[in-house]
Amino acid sequence: MLEDLYLMINKSYLSGFSFYVPDTVLTNNDLEKMVDTNEEWIISRTGIRQRHIAENQACSDLAFHASTQALEKAKIKSDQLTHIINATFTPDAYVPNAACVLMEKIGTKGIPAMDINAACTGFIYGMELARSLCALHPEAKILLVASEVVSSRINIQDRSTRVLFGDGAGACVVSRQPFSPEVQSCYIQDIMLKADGSLSDLLTVKGGGSAHPMLLGQTVTDSFFVQMEGREVFKHAVRSMQSICLEILEKNNISAEQIDLFIPHQANIRIIEALAKKMEIKQENLFINVQDYGNTSAASVPIALADAWEKGRIKPGNLVLLVAFGGGFTWGASLIQF
Ligand code: ACO
Repeated sequence: MLEDLYLMINKSYLSGFSFYVPDTVLTNNDLEKMVDTNEEWIISRTGIRQRHIAENQACSDLAFHASTQALEKAKIKSDQLTHIINATFTPDAYVPNAACVLMEKIGTKGIPAMDINAACTGFIYGMELARSLCALHPEAKILLVASEVVSSRINIQDRSTRVLFGDGAGACVVSRQPFSPEVQSCYIQDIMLKADGSLSDLLTVKGGGSAHPMLLGQTVTDSFFVQMEGREVFKHAVRSMQSICLEILEKNNISAEQIDLFIPHQANIRIIEALAKKMEIKQENLFINVQDYGNTSAASVPIALADAWEKGRIKPGNLVLLVAFGGGFTWGASLIQF
């Protein structure tokens, strides 16, 4: 009885899955001319063939393109929104937050607008925040966007990170009820989130934070950019994503074979394949687009979700498992039912 009530209150849906990437494409051949690297190394270690890079576009600009498509697909106007949540670690500025800049661009005001930072897990953290808001506000229509200009925080001389990341944004609308039948929606069946701050030094962007303040006239050092212990991050990513997937499946009494499509964070083909192997997920039930976009951090999961939908990889009735891992460390998983 209590469980039924809990489920009723916590029911929420995602609609209007959309994504946007900037026009400029940076291929592995382009990178060969910029840093000491080569196509063979990049493909064999990462699976990435190209990434999209923002030029004169900020986080809110990418978010604007993804959001306007999401609103159009969900058939709602920006002035009907009740909240805006933007997941990012690369906002336009410290103040104002990028959600406020975005709200002005999409033409609404007078509602809460917030950024959240859970690095690459930001979208799944945002889903949990959005569905909590739906429990508090039954009429909520929440624009949930994840937008990253990771290139703004990449040391262009560091070949080990430069080849990995790309820019992009993914967006959707979260509500307690699905919209009209012609709007494609999915039910958020469950979400699980975790973090471990003891491992924070393995993946950082420290420079400019209050623990590492900038001084007037100071030269920008490499601490202002993504710094990562690649091999350690790799191991923790596979281990943590596997354990949270098993936990959410067990909690929901679902076996891995019942998952129609597995959409992991698109960081690196080897992380994805190692995870899929441990989870015994078949190739046909696995979605991969890291080859086209690189690692777009928080935007990676919503981009992959929208891309999988557009490519017809998700059918009505399908059960989809999302999972992500990122700096912090943070990790999370969600079961969504189409
Ligand atoms: N081109 C050519 N050589 C390179 C490059 C490059 N772009 N980058 C590094 N190398 C060299 C290194 O200098 C090193 O050379 P050395 O042996 O002479 O010292 C050699 O390649 C091997 O370097 P490793 O770092 O040991 O390479 P590894 O096989 O571990 O692959 C990689 C590196 C791809 C970063 C891997 O560790 C990885 O995938 N880590 C996961 C990190 C990740 O995806 N992070 C994303 C953020 S977190 C997340 O989203 C999950």
